[in-house]
Amino acid sequence: MLNEKEKIDLITRISLDINQVKDIDMLLERILSNIRKFFNADAGSIYLKDRNKLKFSFTQNDTLQKRLEPGKKLIYSTFSIPVSNNSISGYVAKNRELVNIPDVYNMGSEPYTFDAEFDELSDYRCKSMLAVPMTNQRGDVLGVIQIINAQDENGSVIPFSPADELAIMHFATSAALAIERAQMTRNIILRMISMAELRDPTETGPHANRVAAFSVEIFETWAKKNGLMPDEINRQKDILRMAAMLHDVGKVAISDLILKKPGKLTMEEFESVKSHTHLGARLFSENRSELDEMAVEVALNHHEKWDGTGYPGHVDPRSGKPLPGRAGPDGSALPKKGDEIPVVGRIVAVADVYDALCSRRAYKEPWHQDRALEAMHQGAGSHFDPAVMSAFFSTLDVLASITERYPE
Ligand code: C2E
Ligand code: SIN
Ligand code: SIN
Ligand code: FE
Ligand code: FE
Repeated sequence: MLNEKEKIDLITRISLDINQVKDIDMLLERILSNIRKFFNADAGSIYLKDRNKLKFSFTQNDTLQKRLEPGKKLIYSTFSIPVSNNSISGYVAKNRELVNIPDVYNMGSEPYTFDAEFDELSDYRCKSMLAVPMTNQRGDVLGVIQIINAQDENGSVIPFSPADELAIMHFATSAALAIERAQMTRNIILRMISMAELRDPTETGPHANRVAAFSVEIFETWAKKNGLMPDEINRQKDILRMAAMLHDVGKVAISDLILKKPGKLTMEEFESVKSHTHLGARLFSENRSELDEMAVEVALNHHEKWDGTGYPGHVDPRSGKPLPGRAGPDGSALPKKGDEIPVVGRIVAVADVYDALCSRRAYKEPWHQDRALEAMHQGAGSHFDPAVMSAFFSTLDVLASITERYPE
């Protein structure tokens, strides 16, 4: 529990902190962690509004988390509820009104009812709840923040206090601003991908989202094993989420006759496909933001292989030609292998191939999961970095929930 001085400190730090975060998924995680810490709340969820629905977008629950093995993540499914007076968060969004409920199982006659299904499924007991709308400067509702089970020093559940109401409205306002900005960034990236999609209909928003979300999970597991600091992990996850979305954006430059070809490619056609790596990297190679740097690394290196048999090798992303001193006897670029391949390239390679195997392509049917996993296993040490593969295999349950979240 925080004392008053720590609380005032945290109020100022929270809005600075969330304004550093660019990706929407990372942002929701950060907003909820900070707010739960401030109110000492055991659990919480964020709903985002999409037309007349509220989409259950992110959740945390310390009690359920503690029941898991160390390092395991809480798996939850996303669902939508109508913006209507029937549910608590629906009511909050519809009426733009905060609700503070001491015990959701003992409410007076309210228009809304508490849905106990989640409690029953997870063997959790929700009691006190504070739910607040997030509205932007124009007054549009962007979503709802809901925090659950405030705790006293001894861990007993207590009601949220009237003083908490004012504080959470303040947080909801800064959260709304940051969310609106992050949604705009995500939409710009999705629009860039939809240009590549005109050429290759497999490079869709859902594919890009799956590859990006897989990559972030694999990175996090890998980074924890390698002793990276939590702040550094969070910062890298944020930019990797966006850079990985853009891994195939260079396909805009490849003929759709090749990419949509139902059968196997000729050697010549495959040579043309290979250029999507450095052509994608070139788009980001002039600016030097951290996001640009990682987008270059990912686009350029996601088809390199651990054993040095991938492409494009040691090329300059601005020209696609070998780097100085890195041309072989035949004039082509020397291969990259092992640690020469930036780790984000090695990670996105695993995420991209796994998703390609499990998906339909112009040239192949989707594979069953067992067959895809067997192929991934075969690739460890040759195509894929063995350390990245072990991170991949230990996050399979989270990867499955990501697949459900972004269906075709
Ligand atoms: P993609 O379809 O997104 O596939 C990405 C990577 O997943 C491939 O990189 C490959 O490593 C792996 N992969 C996908 N499908 C299979 C498969 O059936 N078996 C195996 N063993 N691996 C698979 P790669 O090979 O460098 O290909 C890059 C891109 O070139 C592909 O992206 C796709 O757009 C295109 N492509 C590759 N082969 C063919 C083909 O035979 N026909 C057509 N039309 N396009 C192809
Ligand atoms: C609701 O807002 O009605 C859903 C509450 C919950 O089940 O957590
Ligand atoms: C973007 O895709 O949002 C642009 C990335 C950048 O150049 O910073
Ligand atoms: Fe690719
Ligand atoms: Fe891809």
